[in-house]
Amino acid sequence: QEDGVMDEPAQAIHGTLIHSVSPTQLQVLPDTLIILSSSGIITHLEQNIPSSRVADSLAEKRIEHIRQTVLSPGQFLIPGFVDTHNHAPQWMQRGLGQGMHILDWLDGITFPNEAKFGDASHAEKVYEKLVRGMLRQGVTTASYYGSLHGEATNVLASTCLGKGQRALIGKCNMNRNSPFFYCEASAEESISATKSCIRHIRTIDPKSTLIKPVLTPRFAISCTAELLQSLGDMARNDPSLAIQTHFNEAQQEIDATLSLFPEFNNEADLYSSFGLLTPHTILAHCTIMTEYEIQELHDLKCGVAHCPTANMTVGGGFMAAPVKEFLRRGINVGLGTDSGGGYSSSMLNAMRHALITSYARDALYPTFEQAKEMGTGGGREALSLEETFYMATQGGAKVVGLDHKVGEFALGKEFDALVIDLRDERSGVNVPLDEDDSMERMLEKFIMTGDDRNIVNVYVKGRLVHGE
Ligand code: GUN
Ligand code: FE
Repeated sequence: QEDGVMDEPAQAIHGTLIHSVSPTQLQVLPDTLIILSSSGIITHLEQNIPSSRVADSLAEKRIEHIRQTVLSPGQFLIPGFVDTHNHAPQWMQRGLGQGMHILDWLDGITFPNEAKFGDASHAEKVYEKLVRGMLRQGVTTASYYGSLHGEATNVLASTCLGKGQRALIGKCNMNRNSPFFYCEASAEESISATKSCIRHIRTIDPKSTLIKPVLTPRFAISCTAELLQSLGDMARNDPSLAIQTHFNEAQQEIDATLSLFPEFNNEADLYSSFGLLTPHTILAHCTIMTEYEIQELHDLKCGVAHCPTANMTVGGGFMAAPVKEFLRRGINVGLGTDSGGGYSSSMLNAMRHALITSYARDALYPTFEQAKEMGTGGGREALSLEETFYMATQGGAKVVGLDHKVGEFALGKEFDALVIDLRDERSGVNVPLDEDDSMERMLEKFIMTGDDRNIVNVYVKGRLVHGE
């Protein structure tokens, strides 16, 4: 319990909810009355209350004078989206350099852009727009890579907290193979800046109500062994600390990594030897995976940030991660926009691209043997809409270690939710709604054809952070 007034009812919301109860199963809770405490916790959840009965039902519970929001037909609630992989400073460069190989894109587009965040006032301007933009697209939780700058990353943390976005915040560690204008001078300097960022985050939000730190070695190419080891030591001393990095993203990157660390045959052994693969590790991409590495991720309980947009646009080649196989084995998988590696910061786009890449499996893995060799095993079926929605919400919450708080609607969970509005007068008729559409169909149509015009209200921890 966070504060003494936690159990005080603070607001009531009535509407139909839809969420995932497993990777393959949606659940609709029709006409549900939700009561939230002042700290945004769901204290009451009751189905099948007609909207005309909301006031009476509250009166019967002796709950009066609280804010009441009653949704209309054509509106419904879903859990907020979790973006498990996003580069905050790349908000400025989305759309640039698509089709480039990863290392060329980093040198040509990304590092010059991120270097500008050495100016904290630039960070203030951009991060304000980023967080506003992410919230309006329904991203209630994001796992952010900052730039390498401590001060700018502190600005990011304060901005998320101030605007009410739930976030993991990591200062990028990078002390080699980066241009002179965008490279840390030593492992010590990188570690000391990291510690001071963690301190800042824990000072401004001591109970981690919304934000928490994440160790962020950019990838092994940009970190010396000494730096990776020091980060691994920090994780060992603070075992609940989250870690994020890029993992097996593209062949060019894997080749460069293994030539820098010739003592390893694969990235799983490399990162785990430094103590960086833990149940709190979030690995972005995971496209080129051997059977051995899939098993390692499973055994070490690492989470995967599947970034389908970036896997098709930046990196080198049209890549499809063996997501279906990860799910089949019970590995936690969430979706990441990876903006700006992916041009889009929309989780709806990430969901569509996850589906589309999975439909292209026959082109990508022409034979079952080839699929098996690539570690996809029986995973040649396409993803379902249910699995994709799960990854965008509850799966993502598990990957970032927040499933005890968010990802679904349940008693005791915190209310991170989106009001989806498919009524003509709100959406400008962008979603083709039929009068007899079921809830499942409405969700499917929203995912495939909706956009932020249909995300009219966004709540994080019960607080309205976008909408009116
Ligand atoms: N690998 C190292 N840095 C990055 C980055 O910023 N984006 C992507 N997609 N891959 C990376
Ligand atoms: Fe990335």
